[in-house]
Amino acid sequence: MPPPRPRRRHRLAALLCAAAGATGCGERADSFQPNGLLRATGGLTDEQSSSIDAALAELFGSPDEPRLPPELPRMAELCDLAALQQAAGPVASHEVGVTQGLYRRHCARCHGVTGDGRGPTARYQSPYPRDFRRGVFKWKSTYRDAPPTVADLDRVLEHGVPGTAMPSFRLLSEEEREILQQYVIYLAIRGQTERALVSLVADELPAGEPLRLEGDLRDEVMSESLAPIVAAWVDAESDVVSPPDSSEVDDRLIARGRDLYHSEKAGCFKCHGAAGQGGAVAGKDYEIDYDRWTRERVVARPSDAVAHLVRQDLPIRPSRPRQLIGATPHGGDATADLYRRVHQGIAGTTMPAVGGAYPGQPGSLTDEEVQSVVVYLQSINPKESPL
Ligand code: HEC
Ligand code: HEC
Repeated sequence: MPPPRPRRRHRLAALLCAAAGATGCGERADSFQPNGLLRATGGLTDEQSSSIDAALAELFGSPDEPRLPPELPRMAELCDLAALQQAAGPVASHEVGVTQGLYRRHCARCHGVTGDGRGPTARYQSPYPRDFRRGVFKWKSTYRDAPPTVADLDRVLEHGVPGTAMPSFRLLSEEEREILQQYVIYLAIRGQTERALVSLVADELPAGEPLRLEGDLRDEVMSESLAPIVAAWVDAESDVVSPPDSSEVDDRLIARGRDLYHSEKAGCFKCHGAAGQGGAVAGKDYEIDYDRWTRERVVARPSDAVAHLVRQDLPIRPSRPRQLIGATPHGGDATADLYRRVHQGIAGTTMPAVGGAYPGQPGSLTDEEVQSVVVYLQSINPKESPL
């Protein structure tokens, strides 16, 4: 279940949703859910928490009436307000062919109205639906710490994530997919803003003082915390990892990749097993770990409030290194996809990067070495398509 709702109205809405069998709690949602765990971990008082809700509502509006903060003009380069309005709100058809409420219709049952990955069906999925609020995405072409490009999101929407519950939305029109992709960016930036405001209140304001987003503080928050979040999204295009031209595949290259796969330097075997059989059966080499969305729920000595929220939340599952033989790659099976996956690892998960963190920075493997590992992975898969 999602974290406890602060107001009665929401608890009732959740019950109604459950009773209705829920195409995504969406129809009745009129406010975004606060990130309760983040606020409890930060030790925020109820008053501080409400002050953050008020600031978020002022900046981003509500699930029925989205808004773009005028002080973040570059957001308009990512999201068109009319598009957000069509994605938001309850499901309805006003004119022939125009559907309102696209997000609640197609996405909220898994990703939640707030984009917290806690829609009514999330519990039954593995992996869980993405929580957009961290702004962290796995299946993308950019360096590890950069947001995905618009093309990356489009691709996820068009093809889904094979091997997971994330379906393909190929049957929607391109325009509808674009609207939804913009709405994902909006929810992500809103979630990242919430995170920035919570840490401001928890770490920088005097204890117990609520947030008043005005005057100098407002200017500072806008220029130093929020504008950089938006800029990273706008600039994602310039953070794309370019795979080198494919080299001649011969046995020597494959053998080099095999040696690297089993080397300490690359460390692949430690998680994926000597034969690429995956963490589930790799035995002693594999240590239990968690992805980034889960790790903050695995608190060594949680306060009562945090422990309560964790108990109510989705069950904690460890991050499992994938089986590499005969399995479907979730992030695409083209050589360029595999190259990016190995070079940058998978953001938000325990799969590390072996290439440099930005262009020109050396990694633990050279670009040619990464290429040889990719060729090796392709060679151990008996199928036509790699992996
Ligand atoms: C049936 C459940 C389900 C529905 C419906 C669904 N998703 Fe997903 N979605 C998932 C799951 C599960 C993942 C996580 C896949 C993973 O971790 O590899 C995901 C991942 C994503 C990602 C992240 C990809 C990445 O690179 O990390 C995006 C973006 C996304 N979904 C957007 C949407 C949008 C937009 C809609 C509605 C048009 C939607 N999803 C509908 C289950 C769903
Ligand atoms: C610390 C553990 C760890 C190490 C080391 C590691 N991986 Fe992974 N790997 C993972 C996890 C976890 C996943 C699944 C991530 C997910 O989908 O959430 C994964 C997934 C993958 C995938 C699937 C990608 C896709 O599109 O579905 C490939 C390919 C892969 N790893 C290759 C490698 C290679 C090659 C190396 C060595 C350079 C390596 N891994 C090192 C943990 C690891």
